Amino acid sequence: MPLTQYYVAASLDGYIADPDDGLDWLTRYEGSYEGPGAADDPMAAGGSYEAFYERVGALVSGSATYEWILRHLGEVDEALESGVAWPYAGKPYWVLSSRELPVPEVEGADVRVVDASAEEIHPELARAAGERNIWVVGGGGVASQFAAAGLLDELHLTVVPVVLGAGKPLFAGPLPVMRLRAVTPIRNGMVELRYELAR
Ligand SMILES: NC(=O)c1ccc[n+]([C@@H]2O[C@H](COP(=O)([O-])OP(=O)(O)OC[C@H]3O[C@@H](n4cnc5c(N)ncnc54)[C@H](OP(=O)(O)O)[C@@H]3O)[C@@H](O)[C@H]2O)c1
Repeated sequence: MPLTQYYVAASLDGYIADPDDGLDWLTRYEGSYEGPGAADDPMAAGGSYEAFYERVGALVSGSATYEWILRHLGEVDEALESGVAWPYAGKPYWVLSSRELPVPEVEGADVRVVDASAEEIHPELARAAGERNIWVVGGGGVASQFAAAGLLDELHLTVVPVVLGAGKPLFAGPLPVMRLRAVTPIRNGMVELRYELAR
């Protein structure tokens, strides 16, 4: 059975986007950490994205996240060094929406727009993911829908050490009950936290 994982970055105060859906605080972040302990170099040089993405077999997000990706295709491609016009080529991507939305007409893009609940869509995601995992890309409302349905296994949270003051929350509903399983500090000052959700 694939794991259903919410892999996401959030500000110190728990926002995944600023109030206008901006992600500059994340994509243009240029911090570094040189304080106590840094000289011993216990920190990872980079984040876990590539290893995580390798294990992804299907993706799901809300429409605002998808529309952000469409608006910033070039930037996302560059950041992920994917070198193609669609950053998730070869992996099926479900967009939850009550509207009709355009899908990218580029090689490798497999985007399916559906009006469905987490419970309704999860079996299809699991079938598509096969031996791999399901990536809940965001946002907080979609993550909360999967968590509330008991369908979210893990939160992989990259904490970016900046304060936004306002924005789009990590979870739209109450924080699920979770157990901390791994902590990885990164040289740029971010910290990756991996939690398992209690069932
Ligand atoms: N920091 C990060 O790592 C990260 C990760 C992901 C996203 N983000 C950012 O977070 C922001 C968006 O987050 P968000 O929470 O506001 O929005 P979102 O979850 O991406 O989209 C919410 C919208 O999706 C549709 N939707 C959600 N669940 C649905 C369901 N079960 N059935 C049908 N439609 C459904 C609804 O719109 P309609 O029905 O009107 O389409 C809803 O308003 C974006 O700026 C995105 O770029 C950041």
